[in-house]
Amino acid sequence: MTSIPKTMKGVRFHSTGDSSVLRLETDIPVPAPGETEVLVDLDYAGVNFIDTYQRGGLYPIKLPATSGREGAGHIVQIGDKVPSSYDLHVGDAVAVFAQGTMAQYVAAPATSAMKLPASVSTRIGAAVMLQGLTAWTMVKDAHRVEKGQCILVQAAAGGTGGLLVQMCKHLGAAVIGTVSTTQKAELARRHGCDYVILYKDQSVQDEVTRLTEGKGCHAVLSGIGKSTFAADLACTRRRGTLVSYGNSSGAITDLKILDLAKKNVKLVRPTLVNYITEREEFVERTSELLDLIAKGAVRVELGGEYGLDTLAAAQDDLTGQKTTGKLIVKL
Ligand SMILES: NC(=O)c1ccc[n+]([C@@H]2O[C@H](COP(=O)([O-])OP(=O)(O)OC[C@H]3O[C@@H](n4cnc5c(N)ncnc54)[C@H](OP(=O)(O)O)[C@@H]3O)[C@@H](O)[C@H]2O)c1
Repeated sequence: MTSIPKTMKGVRFHSTGDSSVLRLETDIPVPAPGETEVLVDLDYAGVNFIDTYQRGGLYPIKLPATSGREGAGHIVQIGDKVPSSYDLHVGDAVAVFAQGTMAQYVAAPATSAMKLPASVSTRIGAAVMLQGLTAWTMVKDAHRVEKGQCILVQAAAGGTGGLLVQMCKHLGAAVIGTVSTTQKAELARRHGCDYVILYKDQSVQDEVTRLTEGKGCHAVLSGIGKSTFAADLACTRRRGTLVSYGNSSGAITDLKILDLAKKNVKLVRPTLVNYITEREEFVERTSELLDLIAKGAVRVELGGEYGLDTLAAAQDDLTGQKTTGKLIVKL
């Protein structure tokens, strides 16, 4: 067994602000795993919008904080009270949903650690815990996507959006995707979109109305937040569901509840964590997701690989609409 060092490299922030508050530090104490945690020697971590919400102060976090909410590597230590039924062992390759993964080691709650099948690398494992599980819970729990439905996916070439498109197609739905550029449109089509709207040139609402013969979509899956909320609602059909799962353009602040009554729309504003709080929920959805990836039903598009020293650039690229697919950091 390799010995565990006392200190490690990682990216922390001591105050909130833009990406300049991120500090690459080399002397962060390696955390000791609590009784119900596992210590993971990380190979990769995934970059997510939540990292920027925490760094920027939208989602409060205790400071100083280590960035990162997902990663994958190998277990090097296990807390005394981790149930044997979790089947987690030193040496196992695992993916974790945990705070502080932009560092060489993370102490992760065992409830949110999942053993990876041999066919899924730690590189891919780190890429799917957040966007992948989010996408899968959106189409299973927030709105149950079914054969014959028409679904609008905003940011269809993005990390979560690209996975949503593939999952909706896998579940038998027709998918309309939105993107900002022709390059992104090409990728959205490769993910399986039946129709792609270039929202800078076309009105999303007009196109959806035309394509659905005035009915609108059974569900709208949107992580954009503020800037598309009115259009998202307009594109949802009578008795349909609007799943508003993010704030890429800013948080929605001007919701008028009576607007939902115009078409009896169900509005859901979910976060991943509330779908996978219990170990059984986490295991069920993560196993299903890893199975979809292992059998090739869902392809993970890696849009960029960074180092800890370029994490600030990765976050700026993500929020600056410069990216497609998933951004990862090699540790
Ligand atoms: N609820 C949850 O638990 C949960 C979990 C994970 C992620 N999320 C949310 O999901 C959303 C997408 O996350 P992601 O990591 O998959 O990102 P992403 O979709 O890969 O990147 C965001 C994309 O959104 C589009 N966009 C439109 N307006 C934008 C604006 N004003 N600023 C930035 N981007 C804009 C851009 O695509 P175009 O250039 O094509 O417009 C951009 O590339 C985020 O809001 C995130 O918070 C929520």
